[in-house]
Amino acid sequence: MLRDLDNTIIVVEHDKETIESSDYLIDFGPAAGEHGGMVVAMGETAKLFKDKNFQGSLTLDYLQHRRFVSIPKTRREGSGQQITLRGARGNNLKSVDLNLPLGKFVAITGVSGSGKSSLINETLVKILMIDIYKTKDVPLPYDSVDGLKFVDKVIEVDQSPIGRTPRSNPATYTGLFTYIRDLFTQLPESKMRGYAPGRFSFNVTGGRCEACGGDGLKN
Ligand SMILES: Nc1ncnc2c1ncn2[C@@H]1O[C@H](COP(=O)(O)OP(=O)(O)OP(=O)(O)O)[C@@H](O)[C@H]1O
Ligand SMILES: [Mg+2]
Repeated sequence: MLRDLDNTIIVVEHDKETIESSDYLIDFGPAAGEHGGMVVAMGETAKLFKDKNFQGSLTLDYLQHRRFVSIPKTRREGSGQQITLRGARGNNLKSVDLNLPLGKFVAITGVSGSGKSSLINETLVKILMIDIYKTKDVPLPYDSVDGLKFVDKVIEVDQSPIGRTPRSNPATYTGLFTYIRDLFTQLPESKMRGYAPGRFSFNVTGGRCEACGGDGLKN
C-alpha cells in the first residue's frame, strides 16, 4: 500500500469503510454551509471510535451507531408482476436467473466486478430497449425472458452527459434553462449592460468562462 511505502495519504471521503480504515480522522461540521466550517473531531480513528461519550460529531454519532438511518417500517407491495430472466451468461455471469418484482424500488448490489452491470445494463436493459423501442441493441447472451409485456417504458440513467455536449444538464435538457436565461436578461443590470440571453449560456462566447469554454473544467 502507498502508506506503507512511507507516504502520507489524505482522502476527503464520505464512505464508511474508507473512514473506518483510516489511521487518523479529521471531521468537519457541525452541519452544512454557514453552520459548518469547524473541525469537530480530530485524532486517532481507533480512539475516536472507542470514545462513546464524544459529543459534537454527527459522523461519529452514526459510525458508533449512536444514531442511525431508520429502515422503513412498511414496504411497497408492488404490482405483483415480475420480469424473469433466465440463463444470463454475459462476461463473467454463470447462467444467472433473475426475478425482478415490478412497481418496487429494487437494489442490485455486489462487489466490484461481480457482474451487476453485465446483468442489468448490458443484458436486461438492452432486452427492454429492443422490445419497447425496437432499437438495434445487442444484449449479452441469455436463454429466455418473461414479463416484458408488463413494462411500457424504460429510462436508463447513468453518468454520461444527457445531451450532445458535456455542458448539457437537466436544466438545458428540459428547456428550463431558456427561462432562466430570459429571467437574467430581464434584470435591471442586464438591461443597462445590454445583455441578451446568449450572455448567460455556457455554449456561446460572451458570458461563459473562456478558459474552460463553459465545460467547468480544463482537460
Ligand atoms: N466489455 C467487457 N468485456 C469483457 N469483460 C468484461 C466487459 N465488461 C465487464 N467485463 C468483466 O465482467 C465482469 C463483471 O463486470 P461488471 O462490470 O458487470 O461488474 P459490476 O458488478 O458492474 O462491477 P462494478 O461494481 O465495478 O460496476 C468483470 O470481471 C469484468 O472485468
Ligand atoms: Mg458496474
